[in-house]
Amino acid sequence: MTTAEQLCPVVHGKTFDPLDAEQSANPFPWLHAAQEQRPVFYLPGHDMWCVTRYDDVVAVLRDAATYSSRKVIRLAQLGPELADAFPDGPPDEVLVSLDPPAHTRLRTLAQKAFTPKLINAREDEIRALCHALIDEVAGAGRCDLVADFADRLPVQVITRLVGAPLEKAPAFHQWGVDRVLLQRGAPHLDDAERAALGARVVEMSSWLREFVEERRARPRDDLASALVHATSDNGHPALSTAETVTMIGTVLSAGSTTTAHFIPLMVRDLVRHPEQWQQVLADRSLVKRTVEETLRHVTSVHGVTRTTTKPVRLGGIDLPAGADLYVHYAAAQRDPRVFEQPDELDIHRAGVNRHFAFGRGIHTCLGAPLARLEAKVALETLIERLPGLRLAADRPPERWLPNLLTPGLERLDLEWEH
Ligand code: HEM
Repeated sequence: MTTAEQLCPVVHGKTFDPLDAEQSANPFPWLHAAQEQRPVFYLPGHDMWCVTRYDDVVAVLRDAATYSSRKVIRLAQLGPELADAFPDGPPDEVLVSLDPPAHTRLRTLAQKAFTPKLINAREDEIRALCHALIDEVAGAGRCDLVADFADRLPVQVITRLVGAPLEKAPAFHQWGVDRVLLQRGAPHLDDAERAALGARVVEMSSWLREFVEERRARPRDDLASALVHATSDNGHPALSTAETVTMIGTVLSAGSTTTAHFIPLMVRDLVRHPEQWQQVLADRSLVKRTVEETLRHVTSVHGVTRTTTKPVRLGGIDLPAGADLYVHYAAAQRDPRVFEQPDELDIHRAGVNRHFAFGRGIHTCLGAPLARLEAKVALETLIERLPGLRLAADRPPERWLPNLLTPGLERLDLEWEH
């Protein structure tokens, strides 16, 4: 039984609610109060223990045997009608939700197909995709960065990387959105939404199966071919078609929504800090470290789940085996014990790389080099093409898409000189 002493401290008369739209924008007053008074607290609506301090998060990530990832992907809204959409079983057995040794096997394979060489070779292509998207809006002098750019760029990049035709990008984007909507911690879906979502997922799963079989028969120089033709030590194919489809589905969804949410958050953070924004405009060599600091300051992945495999004491709380944790990366990377003035953006911050935007340990983001490259190239291209980039004077009030895992902005209206 939980007591009031186990809950997040109340701030300004309000309890902590990570699905509240206002708190999605700024959960930090609650999280800082928790870091001070109740570093691990119980979240009643979600039946999870939220971990807020840097050192406790490190302790969790270091010990995958005690803190299992098996519930990281929890497709809570997958009812019987949606089960048909997944003939190979619900897609929650993906890389991010596996523990060793199953995780080790798949991660080693994925890593081979996802080499830094493969990623870095994409820079020119990513830049060309950025330019093409900006071409569509540059003359208008304004855009919604979410719909016009961020919802399109990462998914186009992944579509190319996987080796699928670019026309598939909008459907892949929807697939990423759908996967986030199915997750525990997303707002509730009504029957009509669930039915529409199920139909889309069925269509995409069967398209992906055909695509993988086609690459098995006729390999090309792409991620899908690399995965389907990867061999284990005995020379046999290392992944089945179903496993390859799941892996591609994972890369598509993990690689699009997270980055799509991050790019507008990064740009918004910068234009709201004009002095630092001017420094970046004047000196492009600051772009890389600026991306790192915005990842720390406004990451798009707020927290992930871990589940205890045995009784354990964490942050002064005794947790039983089977307790679900909400490991709050966004809180930990603003822990004042580790980062000076953590709520301030400081593009010159020392030790910024200690952030958790890409997690740490065995589940460190597989796509981190790609995400960093996309953010860097996107920022460089926006700076180059859209002089005087700023928030649009007549923008509507800000609205968020609340989510425990990856909250994002609904839109970001910008304007520039043209
Ligand atoms: C700004 C963008 C991104 C952010 C903030 C982000 C964040 C994260 C985080 C925090 C984790 C660790 C989850 C955990 O601790 O359980 C993770 C894992 C992962 N990410 Fe990313 N990610 C981003 C972009 C990408 C991209 C572009 C891809 C793929 C192309 C990708 C693929 C993955 C995969 C496959 C995993 C699971 C790794 C494993 O379990 O071994 N991510 N990501």
